[in-house]
Amino acid sequence: MKITIDALRQKKAKNEKFASVTCYDSTFAQVSDAAGIEVFLVGDSLGMVIQGGNSTLPVTVEDICYHTKAVASQTKNALIMSDMPFMGARTLEAGLDASMKLMQAGAHMIKLEGDASLAPLIKTLKSQGVPVCVHLGLTPQAVHSLSGFKAQAKDKDSAQVLIETAVTLEQAGADIVLVECIPAAVTKELYKAIKAPIIGIGAGPDCDGQILVGYDLLGIPAGPKARFVKNYMREAQDIAGAFTLYRDEVITGKYPAPEHCFK
Ligand code: KIV
Repeated sequence: MKITIDALRQKKAKNEKFASVTCYDSTFAQVSDAAGIEVFLVGDSLGMVIQGGNSTLPVTVEDICYHTKAVASQTKNALIMSDMPFMGARTLEAGLDASMKLMQAGAHMIKLEGDASLAPLIKTLKSQGVPVCVHLGLTPQAVHSLSGFKAQAKDKDSAQVLIETAVTLEQAGADIVLVECIPAAVTKELYKAIKAPIIGIGAGPDCDGQILVGYDLLGIPAGPKARFVKNYMREAQDIAGAFTLYRDEVITGKYPAPEHCFK
């Protein structure tokens, strides 16, 4: 079944969960699509896992377009969300221009990292027929202002700001809210505050969908991983099996378990 934003909203209404992975090429798109993964993110994490950098900052709009085209070429059912890279939306005009290129490359939705100042861009994108996901919490493009890749919204005030930002951006038209590395209890409050589907990564179980970097769930490369990562190759026979098992665990609520969550 072709996954649309409406299909995700209907799942939320029925209390059904969905799974999402990052995807950067046609072969992984084919395998993950066959496993029934509902949402692919052509994420700027490709700057680290594909290009080998130590942050997402060098990734360009052209890089994301290149990978979006590759993913779109073999995606039959999943909804493709493409990342607005670092400074891609430094002005309204730049954000619109970059979104046009990403949508023309095959994206179905644009993901924007940031804060409440995204509201005017979201409103304009929506008026042009572009669906939007906003990414809050740990926003890797702000790694230097955040002083590292660290869990966010850990105190009462910053949790309140996160929830208010999500409400503001939902009112501006955001269709999905993605939250990264925030305490599970904050996600639980967020869930009550907005109607849009929530996708979480290191954000606890009270989300409509979960996302992982595809390579992380395959356990590659070996070495220390973030708390929320689960290596599905430990139980699966092959890569296709790992994606299927991941999706099964997300939709049955087995993943994330308490050890994958922040307090
Ligand atoms: O770029 C990316 O992979 C992301 C996920 C970590 C959510 O933004």
